[in-house]
Amino acid sequence: MTILQSNPGANVLKGKKIIIGICGGIAAYKIPQLVRLLKKRGAIVRVALTEGGAHFVSELALATVSEERVYRKIFPPMESEGVDFTRHISLGEWADALVIAPATANTLARLSAGLCDDMLAAIFLTLRPGKPVLIFPAMDGQMFLSHSVQRNIATLATQGCSIINPESGELASGLCGVGRMPEPEAILRALEEALHETGECSPLYGKKVVITAGPTREKIDDVRFISNYSSGKMGFAIARAAAKRGAIVTLLAGPVHLPTPPGVERLDVESAAEMNAAAEGFFNSCDLFIGAAAVSDYRPATPYEGKMKKDKEEIELALVKNPDILARFGLQKSACQLAVGFALETRTGLESARKKLTEKNLDLIAFNFFDRKTSGFDVDTNILTLIGSNGEITELPQLTKDAAAGKLLDAIEQLCLKDRH
Ligand code: PMT
Repeated sequence: MTILQSNPGANVLKGKKIIIGICGGIAAYKIPQLVRLLKKRGAIVRVALTEGGAHFVSELALATVSEERVYRKIFPPMESEGVDFTRHISLGEWADALVIAPATANTLARLSAGLCDDMLAAIFLTLRPGKPVLIFPAMDGQMFLSHSVQRNIATLATQGCSIINPESGELASGLCGVGRMPEPEAILRALEEALHETGECSPLYGKKVVITAGPTREKIDDVRFISNYSSGKMGFAIARAAAKRGAIVTLLAGPVHLPTPPGVERLDVESAAEMNAAAEGFFNSCDLFIGAAAVSDYRPATPYEGKMKKDKEEIELALVKNPDILARFGLQKSACQLAVGFALETRTGLESARKKLTEKNLDLIAFNFFDRKTSGFDVDTNILTLIGSNGEITELPQLTKDAAAGKLLDAIEQLCLKDRH
């Protein structure tokens, strides 16, 4: 992650609830200074100290600078007053961001394995989706570069944690090399940057967004099916981008081989009927429905039980139409819900896309040109033309699917803002 200079005019930390997890490394002695810097910016800071961390920095010093008690063990001492039996989950719910600095090899292993053996681990597991987690590994250089540590770091990164690599310089061992924790000022800037990126200012923040993605499979018999080449990449990119903007995202995924984007609830389905049934459950409650799936339009009327014999030269397969999920939502949505679709067409398909926009009562449609090389199914880039229900057209160049998802959400945000005025 690049640590960017934040806009000095905007104090994104004011009123933010920050938890700092401190592990057992010598750099822990710098954390009281970080707490002071954060407090000066108006943040509310709580500290979770591991057993190892307590060897390097005193609980009293941290409680004094944070003006809060310090959290260590999951089990509260029974003799203490006002015992809070659920604090192991309430702190994760409370926080706007979690900073783990210094993060030791041991804690990286515990967190990547999903252990819950102290307060820091419990907070990590219960933090709300979309809240930034910044991890600052700091340790001996050789240890940092070891296979196990790098594997654990990679696991945490795939879960959406931001890993800020240690700096090079003089280490506590007297050796010189990679392993130093960045200075408190740099940690503060990284946190500011991450909070900027959470998209709390996005109109999609807190909105319930349902996205369909991938192909569907329609059974011919127990071993064969009708399907298409959709990989799910476009729908998953939209889900990832929407979650980053703070939306509460449910992804209805056909059979694809993609990891679930961080902070996204995923429901796997196989056929159009299953996707339709899953989608229906969200029709009344969602704020925005995006149809990025390539839903099979037809399914075999009567799937054969078992494996069909291949003893005939010719067979006829009767197909019946599948429910149009997006149209069903579009035609019944309320005035405060938005429906967005895709239309996969050849170059000349603009009119056909417009027709789908009207017939399905959509607020926006992305005309998706396909050539199987630069755009459409199973490639990493896409070429979209966005058509609004007011006829406004925005032609996008060839973009990565992540960038195209960003542009689509920008356009949807404009629709949300218009609705507010
Ligand atoms: O998954 P990728 O490999 O990344 O490819 C992305 C994509 C090309 C699949 C995607 O960008 C895309 O264009 N999806 C829609 C493809 C399509 O088949 O569109 P359509 O013209 O058949 O349908 C129009 C809209 O109605 C779509 O939003 C579709 O999701 C929806 N629909 C269609 C039929 C149906 N039974 N139910 C639906 O919800």
